[in-house]
Amino acid sequence: MTPDSEAELAPMRYPERFSALPEYAFPRLRNLLDRHAPGGKVLHMSIGEPTHDAPAWIGEIIAGNLDGFRPYPNNFGTPDLLEAASGYFARRYGVSVDADRQIMALNGTREGLFNACLTLFPEQSARGRQPVVLMPNPFYQVYAAAALAVGGEPIYVPATAKSGFLPDYGALGPDILNRVEIAYICSPSNPQGAVAGRDYWASLIALGEKYDFRIFADECYADIYRDTPPPGALEVASEGGADPERVLAFHSLSKRSNLAGLRSGIAVGGPDSIARLKQLRAFAGAPLAGPLQAVAARAWADDAHVAANRALYREKYSIADQVLGDIAAYQRPEAGFFLWLAVEDGEQAALKLWRETGVRVLPGAYLSRDISGENPGKNYIRVAMVAPKQEMQRGLIQIRDCLYR
Ligand SMILES: Cc1ncc(COP(=O)(O)O)c(C=O)c1O
Repeated sequence: MTPDSEAELAPMRYPERFSALPEYAFPRLRNLLDRHAPGGKVLHMSIGEPTHDAPAWIGEIIAGNLDGFRPYPNNFGTPDLLEAASGYFARRYGVSVDADRQIMALNGTREGLFNACLTLFPEQSARGRQPVVLMPNPFYQVYAAAALAVGGEPIYVPATAKSGFLPDYGALGPDILNRVEIAYICSPSNPQGAVAGRDYWASLIALGEKYDFRIFADECYADIYRDTPPPGALEVASEGGADPERVLAFHSLSKRSNLAGLRSGIAVGGPDSIARLKQLRAFAGAPLAGPLQAVAARAWADDAHVAANRALYREKYSIADQVLGDIAAYQRPEAGFFLWLAVEDGEQAALKLWRETGVRVLPGAYLSRDISGENPGKNYIRVAMVAPKQEMQRGLIQIRDCLYR
């Protein structure tokens, strides 16, 4: 089409609401490293992508449900899937959740963490001012995108060694707390592997009650831990008799079952919140294909493969303890599969490691925001313990020798 007036040459307009988002972590990492040759055999320890085997039975379940690719899938989760997820909650947390009214199937928790904000965040705070979304800093990046999508003010709250690597939302002033509508919290946390204990959850829920905000509990690493299962947000909420709408929990099969490619998670919470999620899903959602929902149902119903997976991560925790245990920078992760290692400068450390050894790790600053000149991730690297055991051990030894000796 040939433009015939100046108006037609005007540049396309784009929304400003996402302009505060930085470039995503992985393209940034490629920009940092890829113009330099690796100093040895390449080992990826930057992406948290599980590499342990997926359960052996997935092929058989897909094959047995091929007919399910023909019709449109169930938007909210098949009854089998929702019942299986409810059974998981009863076994794992002793919490009874109504499969039909309190759970919705997600296309991965990332989708749910974003869309729940879209559907539950009010346009104005109770006092008519710009509402706030709280999130830890560093954090899983979808929280910020969700806050910006709904016109909320994201407040990045440091989750540092000083605060046990979890954000201390209670230390914020009333000016912020009075405007909060949603607080994201990740436990076990990515990247630090910190676990919110019962007391932490109880005081966060009490804070939510005091200032009337919702808690979005991202618990997608809930089943990857050393010895003691991390308590769940809904477990503590229901023990304390909290309003069931106060907490929405997000769980995933990506890490629990090594099925990141399945794109399957669940949101669990109060019936009103779930009904609103379903309303958005009905208009604009992307449900999981029927045969994949059958796989998900089986995965939530079965704990044996999860225990086997956890045993492999336990071996990895031991290797990390052995290789890095005598280094001051080493924090034993309580759960999850990341190491969050203190260094002088995360970008320089990642670059040095790549150029001298071929090991790829993520600079912590790519997961965190600069607030008043302070970036709580700047002096860290994140190391994913997902590679096969021997390779992972080799990587950790190279990290130790290159960065700490
Ligand atoms: C903290 C955290 N939350 C959520 C997700 C999303 O998981 P998924 O969408 O695969 O369920 C991830 C994935 O890496 C994560 O690390």
